Amino acid sequence: MRKIVIAGNWKMFKTQAEALEFLQGFLGELTETPDDREVVLCAPFTALGALSRNLHGARVRIGAQNIHWETTGAYTGEISGAMLQEFAVRFVVVGHSERRQYFGDTDETVNLRLQAAQKYGFVPILCVGETKQQRDAGETEAVIIKQIEKGLVGVDQTNLVIAYEPIWAIGTGDTCEAVEANRVIGVIRQQLKNPDVTIQYGGSVKPDNVDELMAQPEIDGALVGGASLEPKSFARIVNYV
Ligand code: PGA
Repeated sequence: MRKIVIAGNWKMFKTQAEALEFLQGFLGELTETPDDREVVLCAPFTALGALSRNLHGARVRIGAQNIHWETTGAYTGEISGAMLQEFAVRFVVVGHSERRQYFGDTDETVNLRLQAAQKYGFVPILCVGETKQQRDAGETEAVIIKQIEKGLVGVDQTNLVIAYEPIWAIGTGDTCEAVEANRVIGVIRQQLKNPDVTIQYGGSVKPDNVDELMAQPEIDGALVGGASLEPKSFARIVNYV
């Protein structure tokens, strides 16, 4: 059975105080949310403590946005699995296109981060996706297959989420057509040893397009940036119909 996972990716937004204010508006909206949906907030490191202290008994899981592969060491600005464990983290976003584009993550370092996340018992959310240029050149499948193949070397596919995030759709309001997102996710599923891996769509998911996206047979959830920052908007996404 494939699990449904709806995850908010807050990126570099929200102080601790803002995270708590979000919870006040958000948790009350989840009373009718079906039990089979996993709801995740991937917050900045500095907000993880506030979230973990205020989510006891709530059905929301905590996610982080990065993890380093070494246990400790001279890696300024990085974070280890043991550090994240102190905050009840369950999910870790790995290989987001912003990490690949601005912070030098490669398929090789993405692979190391995925393995580290699993070693600490977290579920990694591996992000893959093509640029507009690659899509226009007909390279979408090849780009994604390479990211999957290289990213998943030595990775346990029973403890994994994948997010298909076309880069041209992230933060642009330009969502990938639901049918096309479904098709690419089908291609991703064909590359996997475990066909039950949860595969999300990400890229301008909004309250007004989530129902159509989630109606697609291959789409098992969403990774949501901008629209996860406001409680009512993210609640509408989590409670898609
Ligand atoms: P967006 O971001 O929903 O703002 O497009 C998605 C993401 O980057 O995960």
